[in-house]
Amino acid sequence: MDKILIEGGVPLYGEVRISGAKNAALPILASTLLAQGTHKIRNLPRLRDIETFGVLLRQLGVGMEVCGDTARIEVGPRTDHRAPYDLVRTMRASVLVLGPLLARMGRAVVSLPGGCAIGSRPIDQHLKGLEALGARISLRHGYVYARASRLQGTTFCFDIPTVTGTENLLMAASLAKGRTVLQNAACEPEVVQLAEALNRMGARIHGAGTDVITIDGVDYLEPAEHWIEADRIEAGTYMVAAAITCGEILLRDCPHRFMEAPIRKLRECGVQIELESDATVRVSASGRPKAVDVTTQPYPGFPTDMQAQLMALLSLARGTSVIRETVFENRFMHVGELVRMGARIEVQGASAVVKGVSRLAGAPVMATDLRASASLILAGLAAEGVTEILRVYHLDRGYERIEEKLSRLGARIQRVKE
Ligand code: EPU
Repeated sequence: MDKILIEGGVPLYGEVRISGAKNAALPILASTLLAQGTHKIRNLPRLRDIETFGVLLRQLGVGMEVCGDTARIEVGPRTDHRAPYDLVRTMRASVLVLGPLLARMGRAVVSLPGGCAIGSRPIDQHLKGLEALGARISLRHGYVYARASRLQGTTFCFDIPTVTGTENLLMAASLAKGRTVLQNAACEPEVVQLAEALNRMGARIHGAGTDVITIDGVDYLEPAEHWIEADRIEAGTYMVAAAITCGEILLRDCPHRFMEAPIRKLRECGVQIELESDATVRVSASGRPKAVDVTTQPYPGFPTDMQAQLMALLSLARGTSVIRETVFENRFMHVGELVRMGARIEVQGASAVVKGVSRLAGAPVMATDLRASASLILAGLAAEGVTEILRVYHLDRGYERIEEKLSRLGARIQRVKE
């Protein structure tokens, strides 16, 4: 297993290019199951989760060849309909094959994902929505069994907005008979990108990006070519890297139009963020950040996927910040590790009270999930001495070549075999 060593205290300077978004790429990969033929996906990030999704697609009988950042996907007239536990347990997003398999093959058998490090994360809304579309669903031996001859359009209101739940239903309803209206739908940019991808394939979806989405079902979809937009969470993470090291980074291909809430919050902390063009942003900081309070929310609120990274920054702020996590019930696993580096953070229910300290000290720490790993890297970049981050496979799931990108910015970071 690899570990990452960082010798902190170096301000980062230079340019970094933001990669395609993992959470946009995964549903678009799943959507290929809806149409027979050759699909092309460009600007695909090279990440462990994308590789895992490729393994799943291949198990379903789909051909996938990746060359550089472009995937060519070959879908035959029929595919298998089973997503096994072995794969789903390593990546929850595998559940995204449920909607498309059911819609095109008339059946799907997909392992229940189970809990994970950030919460219990049920998929009840995915299942209720598919039932509303006419699917017969049963749960047996840890698997979801779903069947339907042809899904029927309906009106369905989510109890809570769910990103992958909305995506699963968008895909399923695209091939349903008649009109589907999804209420209280997730508004995340990744949902919009999936809807645009489906529309390029011949779907008729309106309203994505709002909480009411209308889908007029069609009889078949056709393969298409897609470009994956840059990753707003990766971009936010590099913004914090500039801020926490008091450096200056130019972010290229930065999707700042989807980043209003994190940009506003970072500016409140005193970070300078200049939008130089559509996709170029300059981020710089000097001195300790100001303390701020933040509450995570579904889009367009402050993203839960940026909470851990902001906490690393706020652990060095002047004053006390309160971070409230409302999306996942257990997303403070990084707190204990940051505390081992000298941070003063106390968790009280869904809130973390962060009393800023003037310095962090390098320590051996353990990554528990993807964004927790990112926060430890950020803390390590600012800390005095050496930080040793174990279990970095979490990081490889969602950050493309992070140590290479950070090295180019001047960080003293290396990956070594444990
Ligand atoms: N929820 C339910 N029932 C459901 C679905 C969700 O109770 O059927 C709850 C969840 O437990 C959670 C809340 O609803 O408390 C929101 O979860 P959501 O379904 O929106 O999350 P997700 O679709 O599983 C995606 C991203 C996550 C990101 C969340 C929130 C992908 C592949 N994953 O997960 O990304 O944190 O939305 O924005 O798109 C990450 O990239 O590190 C990551 C975890």
